[in-house]
Amino acid sequence: EDATKNGYDHYMLKEIREQPHALRKCLRGRVDAPGRSVSIDAVEAITEPNHVHFVACGTSYHASLYAARLFRERGMRATPFLASQYDLDAIPIGTDTLVVGVTQSGETADTVSALQVANDVGATTLTVTNVVGSSATREADHAMYIRAGPEISVAATKTFVSQQAALAMLSSAFSGECTREFVTGIRALPDRIQSILDQSRAKAIAAEYADADAYFPIGRGSNAAAALEGALKIKEITYKHAEGFPAGELKHGPLALVTDRTPVFAIVDGDSEAETMIGTLNEVDARGAPVIAVTDCPETIEPHADHVLEVPETDSRFTPILATVQLQLVSYWIANRLGRSIDKPRNLAKSVTVE
Ligand code: G6P
Repeated sequence: EDATKNGYDHYMLKEIREQPHALRKCLRGRVDAPGRSVSIDAVEAITEPNHVHFVACGTSYHASLYAARLFRERGMRATPFLASQYDLDAIPIGTDTLVVGVTQSGETADTVSALQVANDVGATTLTVTNVVGSSATREADHAMYIRAGPEISVAATKTFVSQQAALAMLSSAFSGECTREFVTGIRALPDRIQSILDQSRAKAIAAEYADADAYFPIGRGSNAAAALEGALKIKEITYKHAEGFPAGELKHGPLALVTDRTPVFAIVDGDSEAETMIGTLNEVDARGAPVIAVTDCPETIEPHADHVLEVPETDSRFTPILATVQLQLVSYWIANRLGRSIDKPRNLAKSVTVE
């Protein structure tokens, strides 16, 4: 049943809508009520690393960017690498390094090979994957499953959200730091995503901007990874130019691309960054670009944006996950309007098994 479209036109929309269910499976037994602790089997078997390397490609790399930041926020040394750039001649690694291969399929050649070279030099390896018995699980010393269920659409959606939740739990398990805010925030994610799915105005926004020249998602801090992922989704399924930027970088080049035909999707977390982001939005607006804010503080941002896509308020560590859902829906509805081959975009494969 998991592998049929279940009445949806596309697997992608079905999989977007399955996200609350997928997340509940990911969280089950790991952050259950009423305890305030995270338990991950794989972590219990791993000695505390001195440095964590994440290796991944595509969407999984964006989950790794998100994760590395969470690890660092908790005081751990953590660096994300594109698996195809994981060149150990140029990267310090030791037996006290933990290398985490993040891969939905567990079959991406670049990622499996990065795990292999890490094993060869005696590092500890862990894969965070969706597929039991995949090549990555055979290569890595340890595995953590994201339990998202089969994902058929080439563009990753529910597996991205589940990867982020799994990696957030991993950061908590490794650091031993598990606050009430963290547990409450992560356990509320499925319901919060459901409320976005029930109320999103993404379809109307997509209809308004489907003929734009390009799309620029932006975000600060951990929302930068969500901006990159939002742009990747748009590229993959609409075949239109999209680029994600850390918002602070916009003024160092990308602003030259901004016109009245390039909508800017700005992820704005009201807790930490509303003021700085308002400055950026005004710069964008001065170039005539439509501003669509994806935000948990609509009242503050509305005067500075053409449209608002609201996300529920949460611990800021989870805002990128909620913002992702809005951007998934935007990309889906633009591609739908343009009549693209959404589940099987041209030139792309679900998993790339050559280096
Ligand atoms: C391919 C897919 C992407 C995916 C990437 C990594 O390029 O089209 O959607 O993010 O591989 O896949 P993985 O299975 O390793 O997460």
